[in-house]
Amino acid sequence: MCNDKSTVDEIRARFDHDVERFSNLETGQTTVPDSRQMWELVADTAAVLHPNATSMLDIGCGAGNGCLYVLQQVPNMDVTLVDLSLPMLERAKHRVGEQTAGNIRTMQGDVRDLDLGGQQHDIIISGLALHHLRTAEQWQHVMHKVCQSLRPGGSFFLVDMFKFDEPAVQQLNWQRYGQYLMIHNDQAFRDKVYDYVQKEDTPFSVPFVGGVMMNVGFETVEILHKKWFFASLWARKS
Ligand SMILES: C[S@@+](CC[C@H](N)C(=O)[O-])C[C@H]1O[C@@H](n2cnc3c(N)ncnc32)[C@H](O)[C@@H]1O
Repeated sequence: MCNDKSTVDEIRARFDHDVERFSNLETGQTTVPDSRQMWELVADTAAVLHPNATSMLDIGCGAGNGCLYVLQQVPNMDVTLVDLSLPMLERAKHRVGEQTAGNIRTMQGDVRDLDLGGQQHDIIISGLALHHLRTAEQWQHVMHKVCQSLRPGGSFFLVDMFKFDEPAVQQLNWQRYGQYLMIHNDQAFRDKVYDYVQKEDTPFSVPFVGGVMMNVGFETVEILHKKWFFASLWARKS
């Protein structure tokens, strides 16, 4: 399955050379509609639920935008940064270090292989990274580790790309997303984004991911925000 998709090394290499595009907090990720609103809602929700949180983990942190949004509302947590890409991790460490008085730990590697520890974090976030998981088994494996790594009552916030299982609805949303990319840039940019999504990404559906979350021990799963393929989910560990 998925043999024609990018390898982990290819994904790492692409992100090694794309640090600047992920380093702007004002615009967020420009290929993701409502990126900034989604992260602000995640940050506000984290603050309401975990005002005294002391530890956060970011899976696929990129240059640290997600952490920076949450630290604006829940300050001075210790932060663990996970990413495949060393240049991304270095940029994230620098930017997050300017925002928190807490400790910063970095872990370079594939989240599928890393030991995320047990009951360590109040908050775990992941932005636009887990759509690189390839199979249902990998989702089960990674969600199990995420749930284990949270303290009781802790929250996981997933901002990501999903798919619709119904082909007609998938096609409709694909067209709407293409129009969005052309309005915000041009046709060549739309085609470039289409090409790397086809080559690199294997999104699963919101109901599938929510089901896996409930399976591994989360007691609540809610959609905070959704537009076309892009959604932010909140899951709370019991
Ligand atoms: C689209 S960027 C998003 C970065 C950041 N989360 C944000 O929202 O701005 C995805 C990041 O996930 C990382 N990534 C992709 N697959 C990963 C994996 N299996 N394990 C760890 N990191 C991964 C990439 O290296 C990249 O930095």
